[in-house]
Amino acid sequence: MSERLAIVADWGNLSQAECDILRGAAGLSAEQADHMIENAIGTLALPLGLATNFLINGRDYLIPMAVEEPSVLAAVSNAARLFREGGGFYTHSDEPIMIGQIQVLDVPNLERAQQALEAERDFLLREVDSIGGSIVKRGGGARGLEVRVFPQTAIGPMLVVHVLLDTRDAMGANAVNTAVEYLAPHVERLTGGRAHLRILSNLTDQRKAYAEGMIPHASLKTADLSGVEAVRAIVEAAVFAEVDSYRATTHNKGIMNGIDAVVIATGNDWRAVEAGAHAYAARNGRYTSLTRWWQDEDGNLRGSIELPLAVGIVGGATRVHPTAQVAMKILRVGSAMELAQVMAAVGLAQNLAAMRALATEGIQRGHMRMHARQLAVAAGATDDMVRRIAEQMAQEGNIRLERAKELVKIFTSFHQPDSL
Ligand code: MEV
Repeated sequence: MSERLAIVADWGNLSQAECDILRGAAGLSAEQADHMIENAIGTLALPLGLATNFLINGRDYLIPMAVEEPSVLAAVSNAARLFREGGGFYTHSDEPIMIGQIQVLDVPNLERAQQALEAERDFLLREVDSIGGSIVKRGGGARGLEVRVFPQTAIGPMLVVHVLLDTRDAMGANAVNTAVEYLAPHVERLTGGRAHLRILSNLTDQRKAYAEGMIPHASLKTADLSGVEAVRAIVEAAVFAEVDSYRATTHNKGIMNGIDAVVIATGNDWRAVEAGAHAYAARNGRYTSLTRWWQDEDGNLRGSIELPLAVGIVGGATRVHPTAQVAMKILRVGSAMELAQVMAAVGLAQNLAAMRALATEGIQRGHMRMHARQLAVAAGATDDMVRRIAEQMAQEGNIRLERAKELVKIFTSFHQPDSL
């Protein structure tokens, strides 16, 4: 680990204090935690790893990921290596536009209200900008107004006003909520109705990120399958998730294994990202896969992903959490849009890794190897003993806590790793 830390310190130009944060010697203090939430009683640490091999739009990235699940980092780095053999990932994203909602009830005439809002559209957008503050100064601001009508609901007719706000490098929840609360009295005046809820939508479908990439079939060859057969096996796995919601849920969970880990490492709101991703996966009325995979005319594997990703690089925990700040320094992204694109690439790679394992040898072999390491640690093994005991149990096909404990005893009594 110290060797890795030295390399990443060099890469990210990290100070000693920043390295101490990564090592766990410093980091989020109980006092800082007490300022972040109510009734704080402490902090909870997670492993922070680095995903390697990522080549995105011609640039190399080291990607910090915070996750407790074994295999995620190894799998995503391995998948990124395969994409690199096909030229890396190509990504792009929408502008960082968030949606704020105002629910309007008791509207005397829905049609007239809608017309009044549309007639005053420019005025309303100017009003939003007038309180936009730093977001407007940085080039963001109001971008649009939409009116949606629900003539019949259980509580009568309902009108919903959407305010579209470009929040630039911020995730933007506060800016959006402030904007809709500020605008609500104007909306009441124009519609003659009563503004009820005023809150952002986490279905941030105006703020999507896209990634795609190719893997040469030769890179997918296994002991049992030719490259072209492996491509076919992976496409078969992907189509399963396209047609079946039960499979799509697990398939997308695997994608979010990667995306959430970057979202958490960078101090972003992973519940918001999760909510948006799954709602988007169900946008056509049936929950389906967030990715598409196909075989191109040269027999190579191609994949793409598209999902809403409302993440920021300023404000929120990103600026408060010391580890998130170091993670951002390692990642070296220049904008929220770039961060979202990196996350999309990670999601695509994580998905490939899972499907490749599932479509070839199954995932249990790799998982059990990592599980063996966890059991060795739980049995009291330290340092190199962890690896040796895990390997021994894997070789024996006997990966159990009792066996790990026996091996710790044997190992400790002999004091000789090779006696295993
Ligand atoms: C496990 O955390 C994730 C997978 O189940 C994803 C998948 O099935 O695609 C392996």
